[in-house]
Amino acid sequence: MTNTDNKPVNPGTTAADILTPSQAEDYCQRGFVAVQQISTPEEISSLLKIFQRLFQDRAGRREGMQYDMLSHDADGDAASLPTIINPVDYAPQLRKLIYRSNAFAVARLLLGPKVVPSFEQAILKPPRRGGATPWHQDEAYRFDPNFEYRQISIWMPLQAATTENGCMHYIPGSHRLDVLPHRSVNGDTRVHAIECAGGFDPASAVACPLPAGGAVLHDGRTLHYAGPNRSDGPRYAYILSFEVPPVPARQARSFSWNKEKRSANLERRHSWRRRGGVAIEFWRKFRRGVWKSPGQVAFELRRALRALWHRRPTP
Ligand code: NI
Repeated sequence: MTNTDNKPVNPGTTAADILTPSQAEDYCQRGFVAVQQISTPEEISSLLKIFQRLFQDRAGRREGMQYDMLSHDADGDAASLPTIINPVDYAPQLRKLIYRSNAFAVARLLLGPKVVPSFEQAILKPPRRGGATPWHQDEAYRFDPNFEYRQISIWMPLQAATTENGCMHYIPGSHRLDVLPHRSVNGDTRVHAIECAGGFDPASAVACPLPAGGAVLHDGRTLHYAGPNRSDGPRYAYILSFEVPPVPARQARSFSWNKEKRSANLERRHSWRRRGGVAIEFWRKFRRGVWKSPGQVAFELRRALRALWHRRPTP
């Protein structure tokens, strides 16, 4: 960890209060950096209650937005890595957070003024049986590889994250790599998660334990992993991702691992969309502010047109 020099902040101030110049430099050099505080203890305890309820109520499951990343995600199965995509769509209290404004400020500092919110995710590693998040680059999950992406994810644990309960691990400098080949976990296309198929040395990984309400920031190409949860308590994380509006790529790429995906959550999502979910999805994107940036509108339209042209529903 290189970030122990940063002092606790009074959140809600400026990005420079959260991220020192040396930490910003670290992010550029290594593709990730940890900060000790991006939210407040009060906010963390209220987030814990919100996410406990959302996971218990299976919010978003019917729409394919809550699912287990590591299994076939059958109804009634005990999930080992449950997740909710865009939890803000199911809990309006998440719209205004100190964490959200601090994360946005830091993303702007690192990626520039064009940065926009991209998506968000809550992940639960249940006690004792929470599975490992396989090594991957976030960009490898992007549905359409024919855009140039510049994205940052801000990963905040809601309790201390340790090597015992599944803190993040990173490969320093891997953000300078291309997107490496990935595959479905165990070669099973019905499992949502993908894993990097090689081309890096896991022994060079750096573990990033964090206090509750601290965060790690990582680039869309930085290789990362989170271990299983061997502790007696749940490990919750809330991730906010931001990006510069993607533009068409100059060179074609293929992410075959996404094309072959047959996971149950995608089936549920497509079926929900056919039943009218498309309009709700459009409205939710509007409410999240996606349409405020002309660059992001252009990306969304291009992406939808490309999906139509190739007769593939976007995930
Ligand atoms: Ni990731």
